[in-house]
Amino acid sequence: MKLQIFPDAEGLALGAAEFIFETLSKAAAHAGSASIALSGGSTPARTYKELAELSRRRDLDWRHVKVYWGDERCVAADDPQSNFHMARATLLDLISIPRQNLYHMACEDDPETGAWRYEQILRSHFPDQAFPQFDLILLGLGDDGHTASLFPDTQILNERERWVAPVYVPRLDSWRISLTLPAINAASTVAFLVSGEAKASILKETLEASGPPTHPAQKVEAQGELHWLIDESAGRLLEKPHS
Ligand code: 6PG
Repeated sequence: MKLQIFPDAEGLALGAAEFIFETLSKAAAHAGSASIALSGGSTPARTYKELAELSRRRDLDWRHVKVYWGDERCVAADDPQSNFHMARATLLDLISIPRQNLYHMACEDDPETGAWRYEQILRSHFPDQAFPQFDLILLGLGDDGHTASLFPDTQILNERERWVAPVYVPRLDSWRISLTLPAINAASTVAFLVSGEAKASILKETLEASGPPTHPAQKVEAQGELHWLIDESAGRLLEKPHS
């Protein structure tokens, strides 16, 4: 696990954009194409804007990048709550990426059908694999320790076969679909982006609590590299030097 601590939210956004840019560039140079699963919520928005800006200054051929989502709220694609909507507004409408490279997690009609359909898309893109090996998955950290839409005490946490599953979130009274834990853990690189004082306590619990994992975010191991990109406010309570 590699922890990078940036001085503030702006530094985190710049550093995370650079990290994403480099990871995608290396993957595309190595394999001819790169795959990224975007995170939702509010934290990544600044990073996505910086990534769009970086793409104006440096060369990344987005024609060789396929964009997926780690999870999605089951709302219309133009709903302000949609992770797809947020990513379009902050990144995807600001770069030259073919529309056919964007794989929206549509589930507003029916979460179960949406999850099944998305899994079929992934299985066609990652054939003959036990789980999809994304080059990069971006994740956030919720104040209850959730990540993607893997919320505490939800059935999806026990899923060991499916790549994508529906999840009803009681505290939000809403449906989502999400990559499952084994699908997330199969990634080459997983990067958590965590910003702000409000996350300091849950981040300390997630990174420094002893004993078996209790929060969903603690169950993310990543077969490849696991990175935590945070700002100083979020890392305020951390004690141990983290490699
Ligand atoms: C979502 C995300 C979710 C998010 C956390 C943190 O769809 O909301 O997948 O896991 O990353 O809730 O959200 P903030 O960045 O808004 O704090």
